[in-house]
Amino acid sequence: MSAIVVVGAQWGDEGKGRVVDYLAREAQLVARFNGGDNAGHTVVAEGHTLKLHLVPSGILHPDLICLIGAGVVVNPERLVAEMDELAALGVDVGPSRLKISAAAHTILPTHRALDGARDAARGRGAIGTTRRGIGPTYADKAARVNLRAGDMANSEQFAERVAEAVQVHNRRLREQYSAEPLSPEQAAAEYCAYAQRLAPHLTDGSALVGEMLAAGKTVLCEAAQGLLLDLDHGTYPYVTSSSTVAGGALTGLGFGPRHVSRVIGVAKAYTTRVGAGPFPTELLDEVGDRIREVGSEYGTTTGRPRRCGWLDLVILRYAVRINGLNGLALTKLDVLSGLERLKMAVAYERDGARPECGRRERTEVFPAEFGVESLAQWKPVYEELPGWAEDISGVRSRDELPPAAREYVARIEEQVGVPVTFIGVGPERGQTITMNNEQ
Ligand code: IMP
Repeated sequence: MSAIVVVGAQWGDEGKGRVVDYLAREAQLVARFNGGDNAGHTVVAEGHTLKLHLVPSGILHPDLICLIGAGVVVNPERLVAEMDELAALGVDVGPSRLKISAAAHTILPTHRALDGARDAARGRGAIGTTRRGIGPTYADKAARVNLRAGDMANSEQFAERVAEAVQVHNRRLREQYSAEPLSPEQAAAEYCAYAQRLAPHLTDGSALVGEMLAAGKTVLCEAAQGLLLDLDHGTYPYVTSSSTVAGGALTGLGFGPRHVSRVIGVAKAYTTRVGAGPFPTELLDEVGDRIREVGSEYGTTTGRPRRCGWLDLVILRYAVRINGLNGLALTKLDVLSGLERLKMAVAYERDGARPECGRRERTEVFPAEFGVESLAQWKPVYEELPGWAEDISGVRSRDELPPAAREYVARIEEQVGVPVTFIGVGPERGQTITMNNEQ
């Protein structure tokens, strides 16, 4: 009887879908607990590359149930499209396999329009959101005016309320942003059809999780985005609008901490970020470009090029603390092959209170709570390690890795204080090194 929580340890896009897909073999329920279709999980299976935005990555395992939890915001148009795509590949996405918590919230077309208009109005201070309506939907949720997935049970009433909400949003679009309004009638008609399609999938998500745990089953809790995009603990305001950390699994699915047996943080062997905001180890040179090309670092949801940089152990230590990580899953180690020297940030430094004395202040703790202006003052302190030239994509055990790659992983463990129990060496399902039978 246990819950395993999988979270992103950086700025999202760490490869969580892939790790969830692997761990799903030992689970009976895979439950997504936050975010919406701003997320994009790429899973490569049976020669197909699937880009999932809302459906949990465990869907490819035929024997388990997938749940979209209460903490998620659902764009029904996207969900229906994703279900159709999966069904066309022969994946069962019927109501007994794919369930939606009635307490999840609904994204409307005007939430998306507001998201775009609001971010554009920020000008140079734009967050660079995915424009999927995530922020405005969570804002309406917190203001207690939003429609929940459970409201789809009565499709006609749901459609009426959609039309009303669209009218309210239209006023805001016109008055605050001089933006085009959307048709309430069209939204109502479309959402009525989505409601009829999705209603059979509605469930009491928390009760389902509780039943599974009580029956001794394993529940795999899947986060979207990563620690530094967390609304409370990320690099605010350059964050998303949900709880991306392990605590979010408890509130987003509705169960208590005593059930959690393991928390796995997923991190790339380097660092990436999409959207604006501080990024201490960012590489604006040809090494960054090389990582982007070799690692195909373009957004799954928006196609935007990702900003790339060296691995930041200050961030990973922070991830261990905030999430209570038991272990790290390190993805894309193969992308670093061929680089002669590698760097990892082990601390940050900035000018001390009296820079004229040449004193530098140093921290090994991520300076999270004093805002992005404070974070921008800190510069990474790097440790340099030798790279490796070998292709490691065929390696399946840690011992077979080139010595420099082994050293790279060992140094992460020493610095961060938890074991690396999974290493990704290529995009295919089998291209992994797992340790200690732990994962
Ligand atoms: P939002 O979640 O669309 O509101 O975007 C807020 C910030 O989070 C932006 O910087 C996005 O680029 C970033 N973001 C949202 N979802 C993801 C994701 O799945 N991976 C990486 N970045 C994301």
